[in-house]
Amino acid sequence: MEAPRIGLGYDCHRLEVGGDCYIGGVLFDSELAPVGHSDADVLLHAICDAILGAAGLDDLGTVFKDNDEQWSDCSSSVFVEYCMKQITEKHLCLASLDCVVICDNPKISPMRSAIRQCLSELTGLQMDRINVKGKTTEGGDAMVITAQAVTLLVQSEL
Ligand code: CDP
Ligand code: ZN
Repeated sequence: MEAPRIGLGYDCHRLEVGGDCYIGGVLFDSELAPVGHSDADVLLHAICDAILGAAGLDDLGTVFKDNDEQWSDCSSSVFVEYCMKQITEKHLCLASLDCVVICDNPKISPMRSAIRQCLSELTGLQMDRINVKGKTTEGGDAMVITAQAVTLLVQSEL
């Protein structure tokens, strides 16, 4: 049995007034929204990099180039599906996922359960092995949102 693999992911986007605000695959009712090439879902991007990192694969930006028109405005759930396919091919599966989103607004806690459910549907991991929490910037840049994710990958049962 190979040893479990830990992966760390980080992402950052600027926030602007207006536009759709997707965080963890969930649409928030928010004045501010992250801006980026795809739907700019900072949490899904951090999760993808955690999964790819644990599996020893190229990071998200290398695979899905931000100058590729194909990914303009696309849903970041496509990226998660790609990552899950990659690890399945390597006979790995997710065993744990923990995340933090850092921004002053929107507030994450009212949407925690919806995000955990969405992440469970996207990854196939049970909800009690997925966690998400929000933190403020404590006087930092209110127009920036960052996310960090840690994941554990284990060998799939053959
Ligand atoms: O109190 P502490 O410094 O640990 O955390 P904080 O950054 O002051 O945030 C207090 C609480 O607000 C957090 O524990 C979250 O439950 C909530 N929060 C949130 O839901 N969404 C954010 N964007 C920021 C904070
Ligand atoms: Zn991103």
